[in-house]
Amino acid sequence: MAFLSLRGVRKSHPTARGEHVVLRDLDLEVNEGEFVAVVGPSGSGKTTLVSLIAGLMRPDAGEILLDGAPVTGPGPDRGVVFQNYSLLAWMSVLDNVLLAVESVSPELSADERRAKAERLVRLVNLGEAMHKKPHQLSGGMRQRVAVARGLAMEPRVLLLDEPFSALDALTRASLQQELVRIWMRERRTIVMITNDVEEAILLADRIFPLTAGPGARMGTPIDVRMPHPRSSRAVNLEPAYHEARRSVLSFLVGQRRASLGATLAGVGA
Ligand SMILES: Nc1ncnc2c1ncn2[C@@H]1O[C@H](COP(=O)(O)OP(=O)(O)OP(=O)(O)O)[C@@H](O)[C@H]1O
Ligand SMILES: [Mg+2]
Repeated sequence: MAFLSLRGVRKSHPTARGEHVVLRDLDLEVNEGEFVAVVGPSGSGKTTLVSLIAGLMRPDAGEILLDGAPVTGPGPDRGVVFQNYSLLAWMSVLDNVLLAVESVSPELSADERRAKAERLVRLVNLGEAMHKKPHQLSGGMRQRVAVARGLAMEPRVLLLDEPFSALDALTRASLQQELVRIWMRERRTIVMITNDVEEAILLADRIFPLTAGPGARMGTPIDVRMPHPRSSRAVNLEPAYHEARRSVLSFLVGQRRASLGATLAGVGA
């Protein structure tokens, strides 16, 4: 049985014009220690999916199981890095990370916890900004604090909702490499949402494409058969890279056509 499994999950939001079904009949199975990426069009329900797995929202129907147990709310076994990287505004970078370290490592001494938080802050290249407050940081810097905090929580499943989207190409590449190193060392299960197909192929073992909403479902996963760690330059020479890229892109393009067709049909074109 899969480590994380979603079966027949449905989630809708009430709106002024009635119920808006975001996810319908969604299935997802992730094995322990696996790194999977979920790609999908904007507004298809990726953040909704993350919130459901995190236990911050309940599905209308279907079930979500982690290691065989139903997910009924948030828990320390699932760490989330959200798209909007919400940080505590009145706390410094270091204190934001320290808070997460304290919540999972109460057995450590105060000095050890601080050392661990400092190590994570340096890992995401924010050593210089350790004592700054969130409002003094750029969007990319805030995003890196959120990643450090997610890693500090040492969850069994790390849920990352487009964690690198606000970063410049160089910082993004170095954090991607760092994330893979951490994953290879600790073999945590990672579910990463990304709208960057190259990033998905560089990092994930399998890529799950979401269909266009409303009522998005999971398409057939695409295997990425390349050993880790993968360098972006080297993968370009691999037939497996181009094969995966073609499969994901043709799925997404097909989805866009289908949703455009539905929209045109809707306006009577
Ligand atoms: N609390 C809410 N109430 C009503 N509608 C919502 C709510 N949250 C999300 N939605 C709607 O659900 C749909 C999916 O939203 P979601 O944020 O999950 O998409 P997404 O795939 O993460 O998009 P993006 O790629 O832009 O981040 C959207 O149409 C959105 O407007
Ligand atoms: Mg989103």
